[in-house]
Amino acid sequence: MASLATLGNGVLNQGRSLFAGLVVDKVLSPEADTPPAERQPPVAAPHDATPPPADRSGAKTEPAKRSEPELRTALLDRIPGFAAARDRVRAWLARITPADGDVWGWAVLISVLLGIVAALLGITGWLREYLQAKLVQRVLIDIRVHVMQHLLQLGFRFFHTRRIGDLYSRLTNDINEVNRALNFLFRDLFQASTQLLSGIAICVWASPELSLVSLVLVMPILVVLQVFARKVRKRARSRQHSFGEVTDAMQQMLSGIRIVKAFHAEQHEVERFRRVNESFFRRAVRVVAAKAGARAFTDVLNHAVVAVLILGGVWAFHVAHAIEKQWLVVFLSSLAIMYQPAKKLVGSYNNVMEALAGVERVRELLAVEPEVVDAPDAEPLPTLEGHVRLRHVGFAYDTQPVLRDIHMEVQPGEVVALVGPSGAGKSTLIDLLARLYDPTEGVIEYDGRDIRTVRRADLLAHIAMVTQDPFLFNTTILENLRYGRRDASMEEIVAACKAAFIHDVIASLPGGYEAVVGERGVTLSGGQRQRITIARALLRNPRVLLLDEATSALDSESEQLVQRSLETLMRGRTTFVVAHRLSTIVGADRIYVFSEGRIVEEGTHAALLANPDSLYRRLYLLQTDGEPRPEDDRRLAAPRP
Ligand SMILES: Nc1ncnc2c1ncn2[C@@H]1O[C@H](COP(=O)(O)OP(=O)(O)O)[C@@H](O)[C@H]1O
Ligand SMILES: [Mg+2]
Repeated sequence: MASLATLGNGVLNQGRSLFAGLVVDKVLSPEADTPPAERQPPVAAPHDATPPPADRSGAKTEPAKRSEPELRTALLDRIPGFAAARDRVRAWLARITPADGDVWGWAVLISVLLGIVAALLGITGWLREYLQAKLVQRVLIDIRVHVMQHLLQLGFRFFHTRRIGDLYSRLTNDINEVNRALNFLFRDLFQASTQLLSGIAICVWASPELSLVSLVLVMPILVVLQVFARKVRKRARSRQHSFGEVTDAMQQMLSGIRIVKAFHAEQHEVERFRRVNESFFRRAVRVVAAKAGARAFTDVLNHAVVAVLILGGVWAFHVAHAIEKQWLVVFLSSLAIMYQPAKKLVGSYNNVMEALAGVERVRELLAVEPEVVDAPDAEPLPTLEGHVRLRHVGFAYDTQPVLRDIHMEVQPGEVVALVGPSGAGKSTLIDLLARLYDPTEGVIEYDGRDIRTVRRADLLAHIAMVTQDPFLFNTTILENLRYGRRDASMEEIVAACKAAFIHDVIASLPGGYEAVVGERGVTLSGGQRQRITIARALLRNPRVLLLDEATSALDSESEQLVQRSLETLMRGRTTFVVAHRLSTIVGADRIYVFSEGRIVEEGTHAALLANPDSLYRRLYLLQTDGEPRPEDDRRLAAPRP
């Protein structure tokens, strides 16, 4: 099969060079313009010289002196060896040509020729289909990768505001519409329009007057078809959108399967899913209705136009004597021949319109500009000490400010804690520090440089983040760990895992480091997963560490292990800790208390607790049943190098 494809490519190339050769022969060669009298006489009269077609009046004309085969022969004969080769072919043809009366001979020859033609048709048909499909699939891969690449470049905000299921749908279903459009274009458009154009040419040749009449008749049909096409496109768009909702429902159901099961909501979910599907169904049917309408309309009007033209033609022939009989026949028969391709074109046009709805949805994704991009003059950041300063930082997701006038100064290696009621803006600040968003006001400086002026890739190489949700990819543990640093050696990986107290667990798994983490990491406990993400962060060896409620989702036993591994991780790094459990941050160098997007208090655990009116004291006593715990002073005793 593959060799046939190579053959096909070869044939295409041959065809192209033949075409190029013809152009050179006919258009560019000086002989093309020389008058016939000055030409060399052809060596031999070509066999295949067909008499030129009769002109409109039906009168015979003299065979043209510059007939193409002659010209070609004259030119080709200059190629060395061509004449000899041609003579050999002619001799061979003469040998296989049966004598005039040899009926059997002719029958066999014709059968063999038919067989050859059939085989050629089969091969070219197969090749066309194969090459076309191959080309289309290539294009699709390119589009899909391109769209994905673009998506990954988009800001974090984009993924918060879009529904993941809808994105899936655009990446799969809508891109498949591109497939459909391309296939229609390749398969029908070329074939049908060449047929149609030749039909039109014959009609105009046969009777310009009747052609003009048909044009006038066809115009309003085209207008109506355009209306249908627009309808198809609009409805298809709504259908594609609806399919996005179907995908989104599936995605939500499956990712929330635990809750669905726990709340025994299977039936409820099925009903909800059915409703989304019903809505999709209605919209899909509306697309079909518009397409079928266009087709029925074309059918009816096509016949009406033909009827009018028959009447008009017969009137022109009989009454007005404006057209001769044979031309009327030619005109009407080519009209009849054009019917099928015209119908196909209308169908294709609507299919392409339908597909364009999907294309539009893909293009919408591509039109979204990445939010956080490197400035063209962004500077490299090969090393980072870990000095962090925030000046007047403010941020809003939309219009409502979430952070206001934040000032902070953190020395390299310091541990600072961010505490405060939920919704105060702590996670948002962590996201700003990782440059997932840019502040809407003020400046964040690392080592005295505005983070917007350095290359984002360089910046992130010095930052690691551990969040509440220990996400692991559905691949080997090793791959997941290497996410921290691509080129980490096995020794480094094992060392990181030992420091994160997870090496023994991994070693006991079947397959060890090559064990595949199940879908959403279900084969590992929350604490184990979290320790893997900590090992991942350790491998990165960051200067700045961002911990957002890294232990909140864990039971107290795994919390202790995770806490110990975090202490290893924090050693010697500038660390921002968000912790719900205040007992975990009592040893921080400084605690910032957030409330409604502002820093309302700042100081050490002892100082803040000493202030009887402090919000910190209130939050702390709330968690410890009103009793300060002596052991809290030991926890997280500011690990310093
Ligand atoms: N992606 C988002 N889009 C819009 N608003 C958000 C988004 N994330 C958080 N918020 C809002 O910003 C505020 C601060 O949220 P967050 O930083 O998560 O608080 P915390 O981590 O302190 O609990 C909240 O009012 C929250 O509703
Ligand atoms: Mg939070």
